[in-house]
Amino acid sequence: MTHPHLTVETDGPVRTLTLANPGRRNAQTPSLWRALAEQAAAVPDDVRVVVIRGEGPSFSAGIDTAMFTPAGVDGEESMVELASGGPESIQAGIERFQAGFTGWQRCHAVVVAQVHGHAIGAGFQLALAADLRVAATDASFAMRETSLGLVPDLGGTKPLVDLVGYARALELCATGRAVSGQEALAMGLVNAAVPLDELDRATAELVGRLVEAPRDAVRALKPLLRSAVDADHATQTRREREAQTGLLLSMLASFRR
Ligand code: CAA
Repeated sequence: MTHPHLTVETDGPVRTLTLANPGRRNAQTPSLWRALAEQAAAVPDDVRVVVIRGEGPSFSAGIDTAMFTPAGVDGEESMVELASGGPESIQAGIERFQAGFTGWQRCHAVVVAQVHGHAIGAGFQLALAADLRVAATDASFAMRETSLGLVPDLGGTKPLVDLVGYARALELCATGRAVSGQEALAMGLVNAAVPLDELDRATAELVGRLVEAPRDAVRALKPLLRSAVDADHATQTRREREAQTGLLLSMLASFRR
């Protein structure tokens, strides 16, 4: 599960994943996505919050663009190779890549992306894969896929539309324009935007509040609210009842003790 460009540190209930290829602005590759998928599936039970951040000047400048060249990236599956297998091979490959992003929805811990510098393309989509986002006011989010003649395909389209609405999402993806952390806050893309020199502290404060909240309730809350995005009213109210039952029984049992 180790990857040369991903460091993993655990401090009690908080695990921090740091993209660690600053010389290439934390450009992403299939092996990194595989490592992220493995990390998402293997968060220990006692870890309650996962922070995803980037080392160096940028959170992540997106896919390693060398992957689109015939030479590719050393030791990595190249897009050219994937495409040579035809449409089925392309779709199977993308599905594998997506797991590094979508896996965080199912992770029991609350996932916080701490974004500074650039979050471009796959970098933007990785921030969208988290439950919460804290950004530097001068961070720069840009969905550049369409500008390259492609579409965002790493699980980012749905959270983007859910967060900012269809019209804004279309505008951001079609134009590829950069959105600052300040603007991202105004449009609901991030939970907080603070000056860069306050970013670590702001993330730590949020993480501290998450860790202080009752563990079992937060663990039940994440899938409940995630399901609210798609579920109809009857299904969602049933899920509320189901989620509440065990929590209520434990609360009442604790009063009797
Ligand atoms: N892939 C590979 N290498 C990258 C990279 C990327 N995405 N982004 C930056 N690098 C490398 C640069 O080539 C450069 O390497 P050298 O030092 O060997 O020349 C190094 O990182 C530093 O980059 P810059 O000198 O450009 O740094 P900067 O601070 O001036 O600019 C930047 C930073 C604005 C992020 C700029 O590097 C940039 O525009 N990068 C490309 C961004 C991009 O187009 N990403 C792809 C988006 S689409 C996507 O991710 C998903 C998809 O499916 C298509």
